[in-house]
Amino acid sequence: MSFQVESFDTATWADEVARRFASRVGPGRRLCLATGGTVGPLYRRITDLGAAGIFLLDEFGGLPLGDAGRCETMIRRDLLDHLADSPCLVVPDVDAPDPVSAARRFGEMVCEGGIDFAVVGLGANGHIGMNEPGSKPDTTTRVVDLAPSTTENAASYGATTAPTWGITIGMAELMAATEVWLVVTGRHKREILDRALTGAIGPHIPATYLREHPNCTLFADTAAFG
Ligand code: PGA
Repeated sequence: MSFQVESFDTATWADEVARRFASRVGPGRRLCLATGGTVGPLYRRITDLGAAGIFLLDEFGGLPLGDAGRCETMIRRDLLDHLADSPCLVVPDVDAPDPVSAARRFGEMVCEGGIDFAVVGLGANGHIGMNEPGSKPDTTTRVVDLAPSTTENAASYGATTAPTWGITIGMAELMAATEVWLVVTGRHKREILDRALTGAIGPHIPATYLREHPNCTLFADTAAFG
């Protein structure tokens, strides 16, 4: 088990993490990437994925294609649209008539070769992806009901309606990833980050499970940690 912590000044954290990110990409690498407010500044500094493939960590259901709140919209805007070469992006098909089967197919694709490198954020309620409180470390990729704070957060992304469900890569696949980065910034995340780092490990804060991951690094700014 190796849980490391790196904390940077708020003005420089995104540059520092982007520099390290460059060594994690390359041909055939299987990345799992979160979206949202935290990772946006990081992704905007990334210029090359070296032909890595991307699995989108999660996606809201019930939002129209191209909606500002969709995770796919965010990853295209913040990362893919400014890369010279467009990498292969695999997303959960939340628009399928049968989302449960779509989540199963997505999970099978993730599990086929596993995840080499995952970048995840921390939810206000301690979730990872859409693995909301109550999620156990063996929960796999699936359709989930969203916690109220996650629905609220979608509004901050510009979602035109309030999503109540989504598809997320499970804690099990993330715990099996070769390497995980947890990225947390801002004063508003300080308390939940402290609980994630020091509280009892359990489903009430799924982020606590990352402390049991064999190779996880927390990247934080000094507003959130330290
Ligand atoms: P945020 O979302 O970066 O927009 O705060 C993080 C998350 O919910 O995982």
